[in-house]
This record gives sequence, structure tokens and C-alpha cells, in this order.
Amino acid sequence: MDLFSRIASRYENIVGSFDYEKLRDFFPVNPEEIILDLGGGTGRVAIFLKEEANDCLIFDRSFEMLQQSRNHRNDFLLVQGKSESLPFRKNSIGQIFINDTLHHVQNQEKTLNECNAILLKQGQVIIREFDRKYFWNLLLILFEKIMRFKSKFHSPKELQKLCEEINLEVYYRRPSKATFVLVGLKK
Ligand SMILES: C[S@@+](CC[C@H](N)C(=O)[O-])C[C@H]1O[C@@H](n2cnc3c(N)ncnc32)[C@H](O)[C@@H]1O
Repeated sequence: MDLFSRIASRYENIVGSFDYEKLRDFFPVNPEEIILDLGGGTGRVAIFLKEEANDCLIFDRSFEMLQQSRNHRNDFLLVQGKSESLPFRKNSIGQIFINDTLHHVQNQEKTLNECNAILLKQGQVIIREFDRKYFWNLLLILFEKIMRFKSKFHSPKELQKLCEEINLEVYYRRPSKATFVLVGLKK
């Protein structure tokens, strides 16, 4: 059992609640389309996304993390699986949100390719991450090393390059010095 599954029932006490309001101006959400919360875990972000998008589907590899989302509400659409192989039709999803998850994913290139494949034309993937080049994030990187997470962090420029390599149109914004929100548009 992986670490997230083991700490699932305590996860939200450890990381705290999600400050959606603080981030809201940094990315667009299409109210007409379903949003896929990739690596959405316990649904602490999905509770906000569900209010704004047509519906919200939480995808995560940890069954135990997904189970916790029932504490928020019991009408979430839940799918268990790995982001390197997304079980959705090509060109079927309008928007994907990935919060604090990409750095935990083992094969990020494959995951980004999968996102690109399932996105509708003009669909968007929104990625919120911690900037590895921000000095104080070294503590987070060190902590995750000690926890044996095998995390791989990027700077926004590095992630932009990865996304542009698969032909996404990219821009990013900085809600804080430590974090960035990158939006990749499928052309
Ligand atoms: C730090 S948690 C973030 C959860 C949620 N996005 C949030 O902000 O509360 C990272 C999540 O990514 C999931 N995860 C890690 N690697 C994954 C993968 N390859 N495919 C799907 N989910 C993955 C973990 O199970 C965990 O729930």
C-alpha cells in the first residue's frame, strides 16, 4: 500500500483545507464542461471545481484517498487508476485540473501525453505546482525525499517546455512565490 493510501484518513488534517478563492483568478473554468481532477485524492479541491464546472470527476490511483471524498459529498464521480494510462476516450474531456500531484507522478511525460490525448480540441489542462527553484521549497523537496516520495519537481519554465513538446499552447501565472499555475491548451 502506498503512503497516500496509508495516510488517507488523516490527509486533510495534515495538509489543511484548500484555499480555492486565493487561486481562482489564475485560471479559467468552463462551466459547460465536466472537469477531471487528476490525482484528486480526497476531493478537497473537487468540492470547489464541482460548483463551477458542469460536473467533476475525481481520478486517483489510491482507492483509500478516493473513499475519503465521501466525507465531503457522496455524489462525486470517482475513477481509480494511474495517470500514465487514462481510461477515457480520446478527445472526450474539456478540462483537467492537477493540483499538487504532477510531482508525485512517476512518468510525467506519459501522463501529459495522456492528458493531451483525452482533451477535446481547445480543451485545457491546469496544473498547480511548487516551483523547484524557489529557495524555501527546498524544505518541501527535502521533506518529500525523507518520506521517500520519489517526487520530481519542475520550475514553471521547465514544465512549460515539457508541455510545449507535446504541442500544447502554454501560459503560466504565479499566485505566490512558491507556486505556479500552468495552463496548457490543446490546439
Ligand atoms: C499530494 S496528493 C494531492 C491530492 C489533491 N490533488 C489535493 O490537492 O488535495 C497527490 C495525489 O496524487 C495521487 N497520485 C500519485 N501518483 C498518481 C498517478 N500516477 N496516477 C493517479 N494518481 C496519482 C496520490 O494517490 C494522491 O492522492
